[in-house]
Amino acid sequence: SVVILDFGSQFTRLIARRFRELGAYSVILPGNASLERIAQENPQGIVLSGGPSSVYDAAAPRPAPGVLDLDVPILGVCYGMQYLAHEVGGDVKRAGKREYGKADLTRYGGQLFAGIQGEFVAWMSHSDSVTQLPRGYEVIAETEDTPVAGIENPVTRRYGVQFHPEVVHTPKGGQMLANFLEICGVARDWNAEHIIDELIEGVRAQVGEGRVLLAISGGVDSSTLGLLLARAIGEKLTAVFIDHGLLRLGEREQVEAALRPLGVNLVTVDARAEFIGALSGVSDPEQKRKIIGREFIRAFEREAREYGPFDFLAQGTLYPDVIESAGGEGAANIKSHHNVGGLPEDLAFKLVEPFRTLFKDEVREIARLLGLPDHIRMRHPFPGPGLAIRCLGAISEEKLDILKRVDDIFVSGLREFGLYDGCSQALAILTPIQSVGVMGDERTYSYTAALRAVTTDDFMTAEWARLPYDFLATMSNRIVNQVHEINRVVYDITGKPPATIEWE
Ligand code: XMP
Repeated sequence: SVVILDFGSQFTRLIARRFRELGAYSVILPGNASLERIAQENPQGIVLSGGPSSVYDAAAPRPAPGVLDLDVPILGVCYGMQYLAHEVGGDVKRAGKREYGKADLTRYGGQLFAGIQGEFVAWMSHSDSVTQLPRGYEVIAETEDTPVAGIENPVTRRYGVQFHPEVVHTPKGGQMLANFLEICGVARDWNAEHIIDELIEGVRAQVGEGRVLLAISGGVDSSTLGLLLARAIGEKLTAVFIDHGLLRLGEREQVEAALRPLGVNLVTVDARAEFIGALSGVSDPEQKRKIIGREFIRAFEREAREYGPFDFLAQGTLYPDVIESAGGEGAANIKSHHNVGGLPEDLAFKLVEPFRTLFKDEVREIARLLGLPDHIRMRHPFPGPGLAIRCLGAISEEKLDILKRVDDIFVSGLREFGLYDGCSQALAILTPIQSVGVMGDERTYSYTAALRAVTTDDFMTAEWARLPYDFLATMSNRIVNQVHEINRVVYDITGKPPATIEWE
């Protein structure tokens, strides 16, 4: 593996991603991880990440003593290179100006650049620079503003680059990282099939003869986990899918049809009456969320007792939730799954989290190999509280029914016109607004539906999707023609911030 020591750069995760894409396993550890912790990962190479510090800061992060003496290749990126150079006898100076953005390398060479030809655009973001090389090192890259943009000591196999090879703005950076893997001799066999075998072995070793409970939400992570566990432990898995009546049209049937034929021991629980009853007359969004969370735990508890006892609870926690980074050291060891957090003490389970080392796209690839249908595998995220937070104000069976039909027309339309995958999330909202319209010769006084589609990388910020007018016109026509309770359709053109993606 390659161990990435994180000194706080926003790009650290991208380094791990790039190595994974190249088929090499890599892990991110806090910059100050102990030698023992690093040794546990059997490192064949180490990357010192970038970070916001200057090597002259009193509190500048540094690796544990002895890391630089390890007999493996080391690559320092940005701050990582400055640290390396400074530590082994070079000199680093606070540059007069901060260099930020794209820069052309005016010269490059050496092992890291092996096989790379032509123009090399590099993404820079730094204010300190290496001004004097440590003994045994040579310059392997230069830009106009940064005469030491890359360094190498081919004997000790120490390398450094001032720019960020991991970002897309350094188009040939991937090849550099591949060269580093080559130098380290890291196997490039980290692929989904290999991962599945390892995960299955790991689950069997952990679970033994124990019984495992899994909550299925219908999303890609829990569905894929259901398929994996079914392969690993068969009937020792009980997967529980709670139908709270806040699902999309046909969703329960889709989940059942996707999982049961592939051997998942799936229990669907009809808890519609309990949820809808508990939500009756409640219009405050946070209150709605709380009630749903509480009802979820109740229903889950009931099933756990009915089908139990269970030794383990399986969760689809992903790598981004558990990275032991400098930013969130020790944070998020257990993703507080909004659905199953807060279970009572007598239902104390050990956790099974096979996806803890995986990124979302790796889970999607595993899902493909395990046979999860694309409509679930490539699905947009859907919130736990479901349609309850898209049916504004107090919900009712009637309103949920209207919303389900509107949502289905919109989402099916996006798929039909090839627009679905271009959006990160698309939803319909039923507003409590009633307005006057005319249909045929008749005056109507009906509800307004809102459509929302967004693009985003991380769901923290989002842009509204620029869907074609003609498509929106088609959707509007279909909705008012097929859903008689709606006489007006609006499209949400607000970004996040200031608006959130959901309306409640
Ligand atoms: P917002 O509306 O905050 O949503 O911009 C960001 C992302 O989170 C999802 N979301 C939720 N997911 N339980 C969930 O499981 C919730 O209570 C919840 N609220 C929002 C939302 O769908 C979007 O993907």
